[in-house]
Amino acid sequence: MTTLEDDDDYVPRRRTQLMGPAAQAKALAEATAKLAARRQRDALPHRIETPRLVLRAPIRGDVPDLVKLADNKAIADKLSRLPHPYTRADGIGFIEIIAQRPDERPYAITLNDQFIGVVGFTFHEGQLPELGYWLGEPYWGRGIMSEAVKGLVEAAFGTRLFPRLKARALASNDGSLNVLAKAGFIRTGDGTDPAGTLKDKPIVFFELEQPKWS
Ligand SMILES: CC(C)(COP(=O)(O)OP(=O)(O)OC[C@H]1O[C@@H](n2cnc3c(N)ncnc32)[C@H](O)[C@@H]1OP(=O)(O)O)[C@@H](O)C(=O)NCCC(=O)NCCS
Repeated sequence: MTTLEDDDDYVPRRRTQLMGPAAQAKALAEATAKLAARRQRDALPHRIETPRLVLRAPIRGDVPDLVKLADNKAIADKLSRLPHPYTRADGIGFIEIIAQRPDERPYAITLNDQFIGVVGFTFHEGQLPELGYWLGEPYWGRGIMSEAVKGLVEAAFGTRLFPRLKARALASNDGSLNVLAKAGFIRTGDGTDPAGTLKDKPIVFFELEQPKWS
């Protein structure tokens, strides 16, 4: 009986070699997009300082403040994937699992060393990095998210690996629409989310291009 190991002609073949040319091109494009997103994520600084805030990786010690602030329907109603009610298990899952994923780069927003919200990017394969954020309700209306977004966007542009960003907000979310407009995001269209908790609600889409002179 001949086994694969005995057969001198046997050459292990990569998965892509067994594919047709169209499938190979698709696999290559997917791998390239994944690599580009990974490079973008890894190029972002670990710590970003703004006049009042420090943005840094979320840590286990943030869990009590995270749970206290995120467990708020007024926040969950505006986001496509924040559980409600928000439990301690959700907080730990966010820090230990979601924040560690290669397609996520969330920053804890801290004010005087205290966790007050989240701002960051999600890297959907083959799409522009998407900005997302929420702030604990006691801190609303003080220009904090405008400051955090400006700090993160400038840091991303500083890497020279983020030529364009995207964001979206509920059409009824005046606060978020204002934050994006203040950061220079341009409205690119209206629509709905195909899935998630905002499914079928009117959404406004935005993009921001790195200024050529920056
Ligand atoms: C939306 C949110 C991030 C705004 O954060 P914030 O720190 O209060 O925003 P800022 O203070 O930087 O406000 C930016 C601008 O929007 C205005 N604004 C803020 N909240 C507003 C509201 N509810 N209605 C109308 N305008 C509002 C501010 O007056 C400011 O404009 P100005 O500079 O001309 O005065 C915060 O309310 C939040 O986390 N909401 C729940 C989650 C959420 O909506 N996330 C975004 C999903 S896309």
